Amino acid sequence: MSANIRALCAQVCFAVVEQGRSLAEEVPLKATKAEGKDKGLLQELCYGVLRHLPELENDVRQFLAKPLKGKQRVCHFLILVGIYQLKYTRIPDHAALNETVSATGKLKSGHLKNLVNGVLRNFQRQHQKQNSNPESEQEVSANLLPEPIFYNHPSWFIKLVKAAYPEQWSTILTANMQRPPMWLRTNVSQQSSDAYQQQLAELAIELAAIEPKSKALKLDQAIDVNKLPNFSSGAASVQDAAAQQSARLLDCQPGDHVLDCCAAPGGKTCHLIEQTPELASVTALDVDERRLARVQENLERIGLNAKLQCGDATKPESWWDGTQYDRILLDAPCSATGVIRRHPDIKWLRKADDIEALAQLQAQILRKMWSLLKPGGTLLYATCSVLPQENSEQIAQFLAQQSDAQLIELPEYQGKIGWQILPGEQDMDGFYYAKLVKSAG
Ligand SMILES: C[S@@+](CC[C@H](N)C(=O)[O-])C[C@H]1O[C@@H](n2cnc3c(N)ncnc32)[C@H](O)[C@@H]1O
Repeated sequence: MSANIRALCAQVCFAVVEQGRSLAEEVPLKATKAEGKDKGLLQELCYGVLRHLPELENDVRQFLAKPLKGKQRVCHFLILVGIYQLKYTRIPDHAALNETVSATGKLKSGHLKNLVNGVLRNFQRQHQKQNSNPESEQEVSANLLPEPIFYNHPSWFIKLVKAAYPEQWSTILTANMQRPPMWLRTNVSQQSSDAYQQQLAELAIELAAIEPKSKALKLDQAIDVNKLPNFSSGAASVQDAAAQQSARLLDCQPGDHVLDCCAAPGGKTCHLIEQTPELASVTALDVDERRLARVQENLERIGLNAKLQCGDATKPESWWDGTQYDRILLDAPCSATGVIRRHPDIKWLRKADDIEALAQLQAQILRKMWSLLKPGGTLLYATCSVLPQENSEQIAQFLAQQSDAQLIELPEYQGKIGWQILPGEQDMDGFYYAKLVKSAG
């Protein structure tokens, strides 16, 4: 019997919002129960619901007098899945309604079938009325909705983004709602970017843009990686253009000893080696053994070598062999608030208090890694966050405390401490980079 995609989607959303699970892990788990193109639908519905969560919750509240509680919560998410389809997909209303209502059976909630049906049909009627009269009062009042509902972000985050970016905050929040593009990295140790572009063109895989600094290639439409020329032998990798700035900025030289101290799943480790194959050594460190296995998989696909080390960057005494590094990449654990468009669950999994704890961990890793850097060596600090506490403020504080550290000036900084890429800028993820050099003794 085929799986009901709406039921699976309700279970995923429940697991993320009520149990704090990761969307990127839950979707593939449930996708094993779905067939072929249904896997795509599952992904589209789960990501869509979590992207628009506050707005959908607001819609439900208008049609459901008493919130569903306890075991019935999965059906609460099923209703959200139903409303999302009616509002945002091209699935015909009758199909969306039938499939969603019948999912109550799969969720062992047949007794809620009439309730789910009633809420969705009432919503559908109101929605059709609004659509046939776009100038209606309801449409106008959308602009008067509370900000968390209008922008679909938690209020603590809106507050922080407004404070940090008084001019750009609404552009940032809007960019976080977009579907992310698929960017490719060419493996320049195998062939030039131009040669790979030629191969893509021969297969009629169209590019929408080329990011000039990194030569990252933005595809016009996302495709299955196995359809990319020579993907299995490592000719290209999927990586956002913002993340592709790291190898260029760290600028490793032949003969360097390099440490990537927060390496998993290894996208940047591989890029560093592709760019400079003649490195003396590359150590890929990560505290998470399971994630470190992904680094190995990535290295193997591309045919590269690195020394994998499972260890804690705050405790180098437990794994470091005493040889200082010429270059260190510190792609720090962070709030990931720059990649919300790729991981909408971040909006609901992160809490305001996490930011201070993360900033402290980052400061600790930075201090420890600094002592592993050779005099004259370079450390590139990176996060996929937009919050100054994790980025420019973190680096300013480090520079104030560490007399042998200096910020290397880059044109990208534009007078600020480090390079803050905002989400959506040239269609990149939100990212931060600061390049530091240690005085030569
Ligand atoms: C932003 S991700 C790194 C992404 C990676 N650089 C890439 O491009 O594929 C941060 C990583 O830091 C690791 N991490 C967190 N705390 C750590 C610690 N104390 N020591 C070492 N790694 C840590 C996490 O397991 C996670 O894999």
